[in-house]
Amino acid sequence: MQDKLIETARLLVDGGRGLLAMDESNATCDKRFAKFGIPRTEAARRSYRELLITTPGLGTCISGAILFDDTIRQRKPDGTPYVKLLTDAGIMPGIKVDTGARPLALHPGEKITEGLDGLRARLHDYAEMGARFAKWRAVITIGNGIPTRSCIEANAHALARYAAMCQEAGLVPIVEPEVLMDGDHTLDRCREVTEATLRSVFNQLNMQTVKLEGMVLKANMILPGLHCPTQEPVDVVADITLRSLRRVVPAAVPAIAFLSGGQSGELAFSRLNQMNIIANRAESRLPWRLTFSFARAIQNPALEIWQGNPANRQAAQHALHHRAACSLAALTGHYSAGMATVERKSAAA
Ligand code: 13P
Repeated sequence: MQDKLIETARLLVDGGRGLLAMDESNATCDKRFAKFGIPRTEAARRSYRELLITTPGLGTCISGAILFDDTIRQRKPDGTPYVKLLTDAGIMPGIKVDTGARPLALHPGEKITEGLDGLRARLHDYAEMGARFAKWRAVITIGNGIPTRSCIEANAHALARYAAMCQEAGLVPIVEPEVLMDGDHTLDRCREVTEATLRSVFNQLNMQTVKLEGMVLKANMILPGLHCPTQEPVDVVADITLRSLRRVVPAAVPAIAFLSGGQSGELAFSRLNQMNIIANRAESRLPWRLTFSFARAIQNPALEIWQGNPANRQAAQHALHHRAACSLAALTGHYSAGMATVERKSAAA
């Protein structure tokens, strides 16, 4: 079982491709649809998710797709399961298994991610449906007096319990403790909170005897808050993110997959690109691969172009593929500034 987990983790991250997160809950999907006046219906969600999955050539850039519960059960009108479409395209199907972040009792402004009850049985079912890996996202908010130790520890504990159950079921856990960008905190404050969170997460993973070789860490980059007046340049963000992660992420972890977290695509790709340039220097010797697990940075232009109109489907798929290709270029240091936005302008024209 452990060999299979290590092999799955390796297949997910070793081929030089990355992950597409398309596991938005129905509520989040509806919120994003509302911005473009797209009907918030089951039919629209299904069409959109099918558009993503059937994008021609997606498998050249994407090694795994993280699905929402509805999507892993769905089929094309001709009866082909989405899971088969993905597998045939060389994309491993994964599944989001947390049931969302809710207010943490007695801790105003903080959240705890739920979904452990009944998880063992759900993981078993998802594995039968063809999932090879899973995701659980914890959110840590930076603000006045927060995060508290209670919030960090409670979320780290839940992540470790989830990861242990995944490995028991033969699924590779994607462990995602996301420190949010919202707020006016400095880059150094984000660094401090991210390091404290990851220390706690790895303590708990060790406590639950999770095999680090058979998991992937999904991490935030170390960034100043969205409303912080000082916004450090790309090379500083890349350098500090890697220095910081080296302090707290054990070398046995095969890969770190970055989330975009509300950064523009341009910034997410440029920062990841710079990190991979650093990683490729002989003197850097990073123990883990650096990859991506983006949702918004890859999907946003496609959604904006689609607008719920079948006539825009092909243009939207083209935009999605382009953003996936930008992400891929950022894994080898070949992303060049403006690549994401130039294409977007010509697609919109
Ligand atoms: P973003 O890239 O939009 O942050 O989403 C990644 C994700 O899967 C969050 O859980």
